[in-house]
Amino acid sequence: MVQTKEISTAPRVLDQAPAPTAPPTQTTFASPSDMRQLIPPLGLKQYWYPALEDRAVKNKPVGVKICGVDLVFFRDKKGEVSCLWNVCPHRGGSLMHGDCHFPGTISCPYHGWTFDGEGNVLAVFPEGPESKIPGRVVARKYPTRTLKGMVFVWMGDGEPAPIEEDVPPEFFDATTRVFIHTEYWPVHWNVALENGGDAHVPYVHRNSMAMLMQPVGFASALGSKQTIISGRAVAALSAGYGDARQGQAKQPYQRYFPALGGYWPKHRWRLLWTWGTALARKRAANQPPWDWPEEWTAGSTGGGEHHLPGMYRRDYGTHFYTRQSVPVTENLSRQIYYRALRPANWLSRAWQALSYKLYGRWAMYTNFSEQDFRAVAPQRYDTQEHLSPTDIHQIYWRRLVLQARGMMRAEAAAAIPTTDAEKFSSDVQHKEPATPQR
Ligand code: FES
Ligand SMILES: [Fe+2]
Repeated sequence: MVQTKEISTAPRVLDQAPAPTAPPTQTTFASPSDMRQLIPPLGLKQYWYPALEDRAVKNKPVGVKICGVDLVFFRDKKGEVSCLWNVCPHRGGSLMHGDCHFPGTISCPYHGWTFDGEGNVLAVFPEGPESKIPGRVVARKYPTRTLKGMVFVWMGDGEPAPIEEDVPPEFFDATTRVFIHTEYWPVHWNVALENGGDAHVPYVHRNSMAMLMQPVGFASALGSKQTIISGRAVAALSAGYGDARQGQAKQPYQRYFPALGGYWPKHRWRLLWTWGTALARKRAANQPPWDWPEEWTAGSTGGGEHHLPGMYRRDYGTHFYTRQSVPVTENLSRQIYYRALRPANWLSRAWQALSYKLYGRWAMYTNFSEQDFRAVAPQRYDTQEHLSPTDIHQIYWRRLVLQARGMMRAEAAAAIPTTDAEKFSSDVQHKEPATPQR
């Protein structure tokens, strides 16, 4: 039996996560005017994407699927990670199941066609050195660039766009270090992404380790102001909760809900110890701003930002958080997290590495993000929505996706009429509905 060397794309169902009640689907939307059906289920192709870590590529081909496309990675003559379409131009063999017999090459497992990092055929083993094929066929190459240990790949057609437009600035900034972590979620890439910049944080994460260290807070019921930068990012300019930069001193800890006859949160016990972390929160709030272009940091003083082709970014003061959702198949996405840090000296470098390994990685990607996963895995993405004013960021983001490279012209996207769900969001912001919407 052939052993696959592919990085597993099998859905990794996190422990204790409920099974999805219904997979998200792109075909049965409740309303014909629904932004979600215009979001491409396999993602935006005319972009650079993170593929895999450089260290994952040794002396065997490695397969990775991005935007529904099977790719194979191997090292070229210079030792750089190269990428070809996984499908052999001869008769469709799967290159990821092949071998690297000679340095800088990959051989198809079927008839031994052997390619270099540019996709040129150098040899066809069973036909001998007289083979007529070399020089006549080229495999499809996908341009790559390795930055801080991450291999990025251009998934588009034609000349690649400037990589700085698609890859965050921490990968180009010599003073920043980046820790990388990957998870697979069996959900549509944009379902994973829309989990940011809305009101879910104070509820979903209320008992995460990170939130137990601070008062929970409330989002503004009227939503927050949004801004679009460079046509590539949308930032929520205020959040009201857990905001590393603005603090939350004026927020009440509990609010009374008359219809329930009770307070939320129900208990005040976390106030017994959250005073103890006030200093750390103050320290985070006082960190200098990040010296990066506005399009990558505009959500710093608010609820974070979304950036094309599919990142949610949030400033924690001491570090900058990014979740990049990479489409794999229609209902599987790879969450690649970047944690950007600014070590002042070797001691802080060592401390950052230690605290990340012992606590930070678990706290953020296991404890915190599994809470997100449990909420979105069984979520439906095709039924009628009633978007709240606090979902305004999602409304902007969906419309920004429509204007992404390879999608619609800005005027065409802007001409799409307001959807029922968008209208509901703005209506309830401005007036009380006469009758409840069901
Ligand atoms: S299919 Fe790849 S060498 Fe024949
Ligand atoms: Fe979350």
